[in-house]
Amino acid sequence: MPRLGEVPDRMTQSEYQRVFKAADAARKKYEGHDAYTGQHSVRVAHYAVLLASRIPGYGTNEIRRLEITAMLHDYGKTFIDPRVIKKEGPLDDAEWVEMKRHPELGVQGLQSKLDALGGLVMPLGILWHHKLFDGGGYPDGRIAGMAIPLEARVIAVADVFDALTSKRAYRKDKPAFTPDEAIGMMREGAGRQLDPSLVDLFASVHQAESDRVGGRAGARTMQISSVIGVEVERARSILRSLVGPFDPGHPLRNVKASADEVLGRLVAELLRANLDLRSAENVARYALRMPLHETFRPEDVDGDPILPGLSDLPRHHVEVTLRLRKMPPRLSYMHVVAWRGELWLSVSEQRGEGIEVRLAR
Ligand SMILES: [Fe+2]
Repeated sequence: MPRLGEVPDRMTQSEYQRVFKAADAARKKYEGHDAYTGQHSVRVAHYAVLLASRIPGYGTNEIRRLEITAMLHDYGKTFIDPRVIKKEGPLDDAEWVEMKRHPELGVQGLQSKLDALGGLVMPLGILWHHKLFDGGGYPDGRIAGMAIPLEARVIAVADVFDALTSKRAYRKDKPAFTPDEAIGMMREGAGRQLDPSLVDLFASVHQAESDRVGGRAGARTMQISSVIGVEVERARSILRSLVGPFDPGHPLRNVKASADEVLGRLVAELLRANLDLRSAENVARYALRMPLHETFRPEDVDGDPILPGLSDLPRHHVEVTLRLRKMPPRLSYMHVVAWRGELWLSVSEQRGEGIEVRLAR
C-alpha cells in the first residue's frame, strides 16, 4: 500500500489512466456541482503541468504526481460547509476561518484514498498551496520563500492565474481578466505573493503557448478535414460513452444531463487526450453543436490582401486556432472558422504567412 507522497518507481499508462480517473472522481466531489465553471482544478492541473514541464529535473513521474496533486489541491473543500464554498460575495470572519482549513483537511482526507491514487499525491503541494512567498497566507507556519515546497509554489502560480482569468462566484458581476492582464498582476505581486522566478517562467510559457495557438496563423490550405475530423470524432466517441447513442445533428436531444454538464465532462476527457484547454473547449462545443467562443476581431483581417472576400465577413462569427500535436512538426497551426453555419479550416507552417481558408465541410 502506498504512503502519502511516496513515488512509485514505474507506472504504465493504463495504471496512470486508472489513477487519473480516481482523482477526477474525487475532484468532482467538491467541484461536481458546477461541471463547467467547476473545472477549476482541471485547469489548474493543466497550467501546473505546463509550467512544470519547463522546470529542470521534472520528469514524467514528477509531472504525473504534480498533475494529480493539482487536480486535488482543493480536495479539502469536500469537508467545508457548501454554503461557505458557494457563497456569493465576501466571506465573513468565521467563514474565512472555516475556509482556511481546506489545505489541511485535504491532506487528511486523502489519506483514505492513497491506494486508489497510487501514491501520486504530493501532500506538501496541497498543504502549502495558499502559502504566500513572503510567508503570509495560510496555514500558519514559519515557512517562506524557497522553503515552501516547489510543488506548492507551482500550484500557487497556476491557481492564481486561473482565479484571475475565470469568473468566480464572489465577483460574478465583474469580467474575468485577460491572460495578459492576469500575468501583469502576477508580476506585480511576484516576490510577495508568488515565487518571482516561477511567474517569469509561467509568463514565457504562456507567451510560447499564445504563439502556438493564437495570433494570425499563417496558412497553406491543405486537405485537412481529416485532422479536425479526428478530433471531432474523438469527441463524439467520448460523448457516446458519456451519454449513450445520440444523433450527431442534435447531440443533446434526449440527453438527461444539462448541456453545460455534458460540455464539462467532455472537455475534461478531451484534456486528457491531446488537446489544450481552449482547443478542447472548442472541439467539444463543435461536437455538441454549441456556439464556439467568439474570438474574431474584424480589425485582424480588414485590408488583408490575402483574404479576398473576408472583409465581407459579418461582425458576428466565431473562430478558433487549434494547436496541432500529432501533425508533422512543420505544420503547427490549424485555423478553424465557423461562419454562416459552416466550418472553414486551414493549416499553416508558421505564423505570418498570410491566411487562406477553404470550405472544408
Ligand atoms: Fe485552495
